[in-house]
Amino acid sequence: SAELNPAVRSLEWLLGSWESDEPGEGTFSSIKPFRYTEKLHFSHVGQPVINFMFNAFNAESNKPLHRECGFIRMQPGTNKVAFIIAQNSGLVEIEEGELTGQQLNLQSKSVARISFAKEPHVLQICRVFKLQSDGRLEQTVSMATDNQPLAQHLHITYRRSS
Ligand code: HEM
Repeated sequence: SAELNPAVRSLEWLLGSWESDEPGEGTFSSIKPFRYTEKLHFSHVGQPVINFMFNAFNAESNKPLHRECGFIRMQPGTNKVAFIIAQNSGLVEIEEGELTGQQLNLQSKSVARISFAKEPHVLQICRVFKLQSDGRLEQTVSMATDNQPLAQHLHITYRRSS
């Protein structure tokens, strides 16, 4: 297995597999609150890039729901981070932000979708990933759509599974 590229060494704390320790909470102004579980996997092949896959499931039925995959890059010599993301809903996005300690604060810079994507359309996404002092990873996602202002959609914590 390749050595971790120095360009992404400051993201080493993300590498490996994570699984929600308790169901995450899904909310939004226009939907009924829901619960979900999620598995995350972050890996690398020696490039200055982290590869990731996020797979979410209905907490009761275990049915696969939302899926995302993508890449993380860092601007050399800075704490600037970029996420390049594709979602199974037909959405693609670029998020950029900063790494501060073991926390990532990201804002969408670009959002695009397939021509027949379900409405409402997402206009903006903000995310925070934070490694907590107890070793759990926390993700919070907010979004704005073309008919609702920016509000929280997801909150979940994960425990390392490998
Ligand atoms: C609903 C976007 C991640 C589960 C929605 C809606 C949007 C959206 C636009 C419709 C809101 C409305 O009707 O006003 C996103 C984006 C995500 C994301 C941009 C990632 C950045 C997830 C994840 C799950 C999830 C990880 C986990 C299972 C749901 C459910 C609904 C929903 C259950 C309500 C039913 C439905 O409309 O399908 N999401 N979502 N979403 N989302 Fe997400």
